[in-house]
Amino acid sequence: MNYYDRIAHLYDATRPLPSPVSEAIADCILQLVAATPETTFLEPGIGTGRIGLPIIRRGYTYTGVDISQEMMAQLRCKLGGTPVNLTLVQADASVLPFADNSFDVVLTTHMLHCLPDWRVGLSEFRRVLNPQGIYLSCETLICHRIKGSSSLI
Ligand SMILES: C[S@@+](CC[C@H](N)C(=O)[O-])C[C@H]1O[C@@H](n2cnc3c(N)ncnc32)[C@H](O)[C@@H]1O
Repeated sequence: MNYYDRIAHLYDATRPLPSPVSEAIADCILQLVAATPETTFLEPGIGTGRIGLPIIRRGYTYTGVDISQEMMAQLRCKLGGTPVNLTLVQADASVLPFADNSFDVVLTTHMLHCLPDWRVGLSEFRRVLNPQGIYLSCETLICHRIKGSSSLI
């Protein structure tokens, strides 16, 4: 059992994200990537789905990858199961089990620092992204808020 497996049950309680904020972040992401109903998303390190949840609920095709089954179990619990538009895979983000050019958008929040070598992760994200794909990364949510940015990404 890894670190995130052990803390999964209290993860959301220690990082509260009120629903209006969560929905606003989803609005911002969808606007940034000019999402259409066909847009496909990959979120390595999806965790409990704090960021992905509203996008999944809106019906977008979403794939989440995490090394921790327990973190993804929390997400399944919040969704009451696994909806048809969601695929959850236990895997290492440094060795993604997907073909080249598989996704339109790759999104990571607070996970690059978890990788032994973030350059390997970035290389994998580029590999699985379509040539015109978009990578969004957020590692400094609190910092952006302090600076008063309207964008959390
Ligand atoms: C700080 S949490 C962030 C979770 C979520 N993105 C969020 O913003 O709430 C880091 C997540 O990355 C996952 N993780 C850590 N190392 C990983 C790896 N090598 N491959 C895939 N996921 C990993 C952890 O299990 C955890 O769910």
